[in-house]
Amino acid sequence: MIGKSMMLRRGIPVLLFIGLVSWGTSLSSHEGATGVVKERMTLMESLGGSMKTLAKFAKGELEWDTQVVQKQLSALSSHASKDLSALFPEGSARHPSEAKPAIWTDWDEFQALWGDFNKVAKTANEAEPDSPKVLISQIRKLAKTCKSCHDDFKAD
Ligand code: HEC
Repeated sequence: MIGKSMMLRRGIPVLLFIGLVSWGTSLSSHEGATGVVKERMTLMESLGGSMKTLAKFAKGELEWDTQVVQKQLSALSSHASKDLSALFPEGSARHPSEAKPAIWTDWDEFQALWGDFNKVAKTANEAEPDSPKVLISQIRKLAKTCKSCHDDFKAD
């Protein structure tokens, strides 16, 4: 019992933190997306899906399953290792994309933030969390990297 209530208490800050990041997308945001825009939205959606599942394990909403957790972390890491250049060709911020034109004026910064995400995702994957407690600290770090890029480069 004690273990459970502790886990729930630990879960609260994660919930709040994750609430700051917009993983969820309305289905309509995909409407009319084609080509690379659709491709990168699908990639991002998949990141959002992995984060949501991981958050459920961290909060104890899903019964702990090391294999499933590891699968999500490895998916994140594999997506993070992708080269963004092909997915963000210059001038591809048109509707319905939520990409901000700043991506192309601050390309180095954009790339660097993706590089940070890649590093954190690799570390999380290699950490092989074996408990919600360990997973929470990885999720925090991951969520920060998503948020710091979205704050500057993704329209709300
Ligand atoms: C280096 C920048 C960067 C990082 C890091 C990043 N994103 Fe994104 N994300 C974007 C941009 C730019 C868009 C808007 C793409 C578009 O609409 O063309 C986006 C869009 C999204 C969307 C909306 C997709 C849609 O269907 O419209 C989700 C969900 C998302 N990101 C989740 C995440 C998650 C979760 C992480 C971290 C695990 C993450 N992103 C990390 C830049 C980033």
